[in-house]
Amino acid sequence: MIEIADPLSDMEKPAFYNDLQLLAAGLLEGDDDLISSLANLSSLLFWQLADINWAGFYLLSDKELVLGPFQGKPACNRIPVGQGVCGTAVAKGTTQVVADVQQFPGHIACDSASRSELVIPLFDKQGNCRGVLDIDSPSLARFDQEDAVGLQSIADLLLNKWS
Ligand code: SME
Repeated sequence: MIEIADPLSDMEKPAFYNDLQLLAAGLLEGDDDLISSLANLSSLLFWQLADINWAGFYLLSDKELVLGPFQGKPACNRIPVGQGVCGTAVAKGTTQVVADVQQFPGHIACDSASRSELVIPLFDKQGNCRGVLDIDSPSLARFDQEDAVGLQSIADLLLNKWS
């Protein structure tokens, strides 16, 4: 596995996410299986992003988000749409960048170490929400708009294959 520089110290975030996108594209190339793609992407994000404690996917099924491939401590199996940061991202159809999860009404604490969170709703080419990408950090305000844009570019690689 090729490692890229730490985005929080060595490298500007746009350059970091550009490199990460290349690694993600390589992982997704040549195999269309959804579960293996999600599993490898969650591993890539978990090991390459600095200062995070959980990275993974919830998949939408009958108005509930069901836990998919992830890296980190065990997490809650199901999250209703509209609840928690993940369910809010789906209900609103927008990325949630939460600087302090304790200030987010209804935040669902899967790992008590989590302090900030970024959740991207995943819309397929038809505009249907298929799930979310969820990343947690043990630090307050770990994520900003540059992270949201960079991680959306990774999610887009997946969504381009997900029809
Ligand atoms: N904190 C999330 C729940 C999932 S865990 O972070 C893995 C939420 O409030 O939706």
